[in-house]
Amino acid sequence: MFLLGIVTLFAALGIAGSTPSCYNGVNGNPPLCSTCSGACTQAGCTCSNNTSCLPDAGMCSLNSSTCCLPNLSWNPDLVCCTADPYCSTACLADEVCQYVNQTAICVANTTYYKSQDVYNTSYSLVCKGSNMTISVGKNLLEVLHYKPSASTLLHSNCSGAVESILQGQRVYSLTVQTGSGVCGNKIVKNNTHVSYTNAINIPANTDNGLVGAGNLSIEFSCTYNISMWTSLTTVLNPVMSTENLNSGGSADALTSLAAFTNPSYTNPMLQSQSQDLDIGSTLYFGMSTQFADPAFVLRVDQCFATPTSDGSGSIKVQLIQGGCATGDGPYIKVVENGVSKEVRFSIASFSFQNYNSVYIFCDARLCSHSSGKCSSCASSRDVSEEPTRFSVGPFTFVDTQDNSAIFAKGLPFTVLLISLLGSLTLISEF
Ligand SMILES: *[C@@H]1O[C@H](CO)[C@@H](O)[C@H](O)[C@H]1NC(C)=O
Ligand SMILES: *[C@@H]1O[C@H](CO)[C@@H](O)[C@H](O)[C@H]1NC(C)=O
Ligand SMILES: *[C@@H]1O[C@H](CO)[C@@H](O)[C@H](O)[C@H]1NC(C)=O
Ligand SMILES: *[C@@H]1O[C@H](CO)[C@@H](O)[C@H](O)[C@H]1NC(C)=O
Ligand SMILES: *[C@@H]1O[C@H](CO)[C@@H](O)[C@H](O)[C@H]1NC(C)=O
Ligand SMILES: *[C@@H]1O[C@H](CO)[C@@H](O)[C@H](O)[C@H]1NC(C)=O
Ligand SMILES: *[C@@H]1O[C@H](CO)[C@@H](O)[C@H](O)[C@H]1NC(C)=O
Ligand SMILES: *[C@@H]1O[C@H](CO)[C@@H](O)[C@H](O)[C@H]1NC(C)=O
Ligand SMILES: *[C@@H]1O[C@H](CO)[C@@H](O)[C@H](O)[C@H]1NC(C)=O
Ligand SMILES: *[C@@H]1O[C@H](CO)[C@@H](O)[C@H](O)[C@H]1NC(C)=O
Ligand SMILES: *[C@@H]1O[C@H](CO)[C@@H](O)[C@H](O)[C@H]1NC(C)=O
Ligand SMILES: *[C@@H]1O[C@H](CO)[C@@H](O)[C@H](O)[C@H]1NC(C)=O
Repeated sequence: MFLLGIVTLFAALGIAGSTPSCYNGVNGNPPLCSTCSGACTQAGCTCSNNTSCLPDAGMCSLNSSTCCLPNLSWNPDLVCCTADPYCSTACLADEVCQYVNQTAICVANTTYYKSQDVYNTSYSLVCKGSNMTISVGKNLLEVLHYKPSASTLLHSNCSGAVESILQGQRVYSLTVQTGSGVCGNKIVKNNTHVSYTNAINIPANTDNGLVGAGNLSIEFSCTYNISMWTSLTTVLNPVMSTENLNSGGSADALTSLAAFTNPSYTNPMLQSQSQDLDIGSTLYFGMSTQFADPAFVLRVDQCFATPTSDGSGSIKVQLIQGGCATGDGPYIKVVENGVSKEVRFSIASFSFQNYNSVYIFCDARLCSHSSGKCSSCASSRDVSEEPTRFSVGPFTFVDTQDNSAIFAKGLPFTVLLISLLGSLTLISEF
């Protein structure tokens, strides 16, 4: 089979080696357009009686293979159709211009690859931001009877490989976003790094009924430093709220408020973990923005908690005011605010012992370093950036010490009622 391929190729090279000339048909068939009052349109060149004709040199102003019949190529130097294949974009060093499906395209030069002893199935991986791009060389794989254009990731519905030229090689690339489960991504995480692993599956080419090679699978992985932001993509369903901050429309300012379970803010709290929290536990809240401009930092102006999901009502515990922990909140600790792209604060849930269901609201904005006020404890009224509101919740609590404590403390009836309504809302929402 392979020998036959080489013989065919030599024949093709023989033709390619001759000096190309305009194709004039055989015994006036097909006729030249000048002999039958022909004309060329987007649909091709035709005689006045609608049969196809060959454009005379310089006649077809479309200047493309649209002018030519199948198995012929438009040659822009000769401005006519030739029998020799002519590829409109130059082929690479390991390619030849050949007819495939009656159209001239660049394909792998089989003799070039046949002369190599080592088959180097090299691939390239780019880990950029939250994208992983895997690229595999097209030509060698095709010579080895694979079909890289049909490559998929671990989930076979992640397909659509894109052809491009990378470092002088024609490649097919697939891009997958980092994130748990995306296209079959697998995650390995330790205290400092997170790795996402997937695999590109290159199917064997069975177009010619050939059944030989099995599918080729190449595993790849990208490793990132763990940070508040990257940790959020390592889990499904974190307690998280994501908004685009008002950044004057200049650039992407995706920002997230999320709850964490550890003081290094790298273990996101799952939605399933936000119920029946021990009333004594500490909740860690982190915000992180993707806004890249180094002239700006992230600042939270205020945060408060309410038993209601819309933040309204008279029951409200102010947590952060003017960028700093409120005086009446001894259990609130602002770890970092207005100094970087991240904000961190923690709340001991004793603060909420009057409620069994709590929503947290925060107003955050980008703050210009040059103002010198981004980390100050003051309500900055003179800012141009409107804050954006984030909310997460509900968090529900159980008093593992003594469930009757709430009643023993003789809370006002309204407080209890509102807590209960909070729980009811929760039930009806899910
Ligand atoms: C159309 O015209 C060409 C050239 O005059 C001729 O060779 C061909 O037979 C004609 N075809 C029909 C269907 O009349
Ligand atoms: C050629 O085709 C066009 C449209 O397809 C038609 O209108 C026209 O009558 C045809 N002419 C002849 C000579 O068949
Ligand atoms: C035809 O296209 C080629 C490039 O594709 C260009 O170099 C050439 O000048 C064009 N010729 C005409 C007559 O437009
Ligand atoms: C084009 O060439 C191929 C192979 O040489 C041949 O099988 C096919 O019939 C040709 N097609 C046309 C429209 O001439
Ligand atoms: C050639 O055409 C066939 C049928 O339309 C298609 O299945 C095949 O993928 C094509 N080959 C290439 C290289 O485009
Ligand atoms: C294909 O590769 C062979 C071996 O390297 C080389 O001799 C030949 O010139 C190449 N063909 C083309 C069209 O580049
Ligand atoms: C395989 O390709 C890579 C990248 O093109 C190159 O660095 C490496 O030396 C090649 N290995 C062999 C055995 O050719
Ligand atoms: C990631 O990939 C998506 C589409 O695949 C693209 O829109 C986005 O710009 C890419 N992001 C980066 C940082 O390359
Ligand atoms: C892709 O396949 C996975 C399972 O194989 C499935 O969960 C997912 O919904 C599919 N996605 C699409 C867009 O079909
Ligand atoms: C965490 O994983 C990274 C990357 O896999 C590795 O380099 C590092 O040594 C690991 N650290 C620990 C403490 O295991
Ligand atoms: C190879 O991949 C194709 C398409 O992705 C799939 O249909 C086929 O079952 C796979 N074959 C093997 C042996 O894994
Ligand atoms: C990852 O962390 C190490 C050690 O903290 C640091 O030197 C390196 O620059 C970080 N890399 C990135 C891409 O942030």
